[in-house]
Amino acid sequence: MKKTWWKESVVYQIYPRSFNDSNGDGIGDINGIIQKLDYLKELGIDVIWLSPVYESPNDDNGYDISDYQKIMKDFGTMKDWELLLDEIHQRGMKLIMDLVVNHSSDEHDWFTESKKSKDNKYRDYYIWRPGKDGKEPNNWKSTFSGSAWDYDSETDEYYLHIFSKKQPDLNWENPKLRREIYDMMKWWLDKGIDGFRMDVINFISKVPGLPDALNPDGEKYVSGSRYFMNGPRIHEFLQEMNQEVLSNYDIMTVGEMPGVNVEEAKDYTNLDRNELQMVFQFEHMDLDSAPGGKWNLKPLDLRDLKESISKWQTGLHGVGWNSLYLNNHDQPRVVSRFGNDQEYRVVSAKMLGTFLHMLQGTPYIYQGEEIGMTNIRFDSIEEYKDIEILNMYKEKVIEGNESHEKVMESIYVKGRDNARTPFQWDSSPNGGFTTGEPWLKINPNYKEINAEAAVSDPNSIYHYYRELIKLRKTHPIIVYGDYQLLYPEDVKHYSYLRTLDEEKLLVITNFSEETIEWKLPEDLNFTVKEQLIGNYPDREGTDINNLILKPYEAIVYLAE
Ligand code: NOJ
Repeated sequence: MKKTWWKESVVYQIYPRSFNDSNGDGIGDINGIIQKLDYLKELGIDVIWLSPVYESPNDDNGYDISDYQKIMKDFGTMKDWELLLDEIHQRGMKLIMDLVVNHSSDEHDWFTESKKSKDNKYRDYYIWRPGKDGKEPNNWKSTFSGSAWDYDSETDEYYLHIFSKKQPDLNWENPKLRREIYDMMKWWLDKGIDGFRMDVINFISKVPGLPDALNPDGEKYVSGSRYFMNGPRIHEFLQEMNQEVLSNYDIMTVGEMPGVNVEEAKDYTNLDRNELQMVFQFEHMDLDSAPGGKWNLKPLDLRDLKESISKWQTGLHGVGWNSLYLNNHDQPRVVSRFGNDQEYRVVSAKMLGTFLHMLQGTPYIYQGEEIGMTNIRFDSIEEYKDIEILNMYKEKVIEGNESHEKVMESIYVKGRDNARTPFQWDSSPNGGFTTGEPWLKINPNYKEINAEAAVSDPNSIYHYYRELIKLRKTHPIIVYGDYQLLYPEDVKHYSYLRTLDEEKLLVITNFSEETIEWKLPEDLNFTVKEQLIGNYPDREGTDINNLILKPYEAIVYLAE
């Protein structure tokens, strides 16, 4: 297998609005990030992925970009950003930027022009269609509720927006638009950045004719998604982007791809095909949703997680490369989701970290994960800020007939603001995030759960993550070894084996809050050489034929 720096890296995602506010306006900023770079270096990460910091009216917190080459005023200036890049590089770390080019903001100059007339030279930068029988051009739905089309009276046509109506989809069929995007990407790469995380990049090619969804309520994501995910020209567009831009730089690329399956991911990440290096797939993040989408709650069945992760581990082995994540700015906090954020918060967070970091792939840590930050429950809907939550609440409760209580419960479990409450730095007011009024309320548990406390406690989740990262750097088997699932049918523990040449690594993680028995599989020849890590005090001896696992216990053994 080809060895590369990005396979051996650990990435840390910063959601700048919620990371650290240096000027007291309640919004995180670039200078705030600079102040915390030493903290990240100490953690041991290699690459920072920075969520969008470009100019934006913030309908979707920066994922609606009105100028790709300017920095949002809330976050600072281009000079601040240049200093950030420099400070990151000086510490031997790298920076990858978010690239949001499935859509722009409706306040981007291209869209302002595009709206003006049907023959404006920017008209075809977006996807305009006349209505059908006085209604929307088709029955596609927006991921943020409602129709995916908005009517514009100026030219009597509708434009497509898979996300909010302030996020019109760009028309990738137009070569001029593609040229502009590639030039913009080069401009950033020439400033010295180390790669891109590409927002919903598998949405850029739509099925020609934009057909009606035949079964609008039966699609996995929203109505129409089968016609805009992994569309007919997607590989062509990515290969063109690779040839025009990516291949000219030594960079990291990861494409966010809802709805992608392993077979498609092989094509996206097979280096011989010259597309991307990794994708963010969503299968494991969808396992606790019932049919009908993310707001329909369902408990995780560990067997489903095993089946899904194993399929990706073995499917991409030797062909492409996995990204590994359990958290990001769109997902609830994993310790609240698949662990236990009360009595077992610390051990279960460490267990989940072990499970993830011992897999094959490049691990991504989302800000606050390394200190075990948890989900939030705000009392009223007014305290929430996320457009996805607010639109969904409006559609289901205000305009629909679902109960407030039921919908709030789904927000508590799945809402994106769970991940977006301010980073908890210390026990001072507002967790040291800001001296002002935070844009989104801080989780009141910041007095106990904060970075300062975690750094000063050698048994904290933070120090455990440092150890996990260090192990990856010292044991190539963790990066490159192959993967074999043990006990696929067990519903309490997830155990797997990694093998690299003569070396073997055994990972045992108890996903339950019960004390359980664990047996070495009879056909597995494994003599313990050493325990690499564990979230309870080390056991005596090396006999692992019969183990009693404590609640959420995780252990990793290297064989002789
Ligand atoms: C995926 C991003 O991660 C999410 O935060 C955003 O709302 C949508 N894409 C639209 O850009």
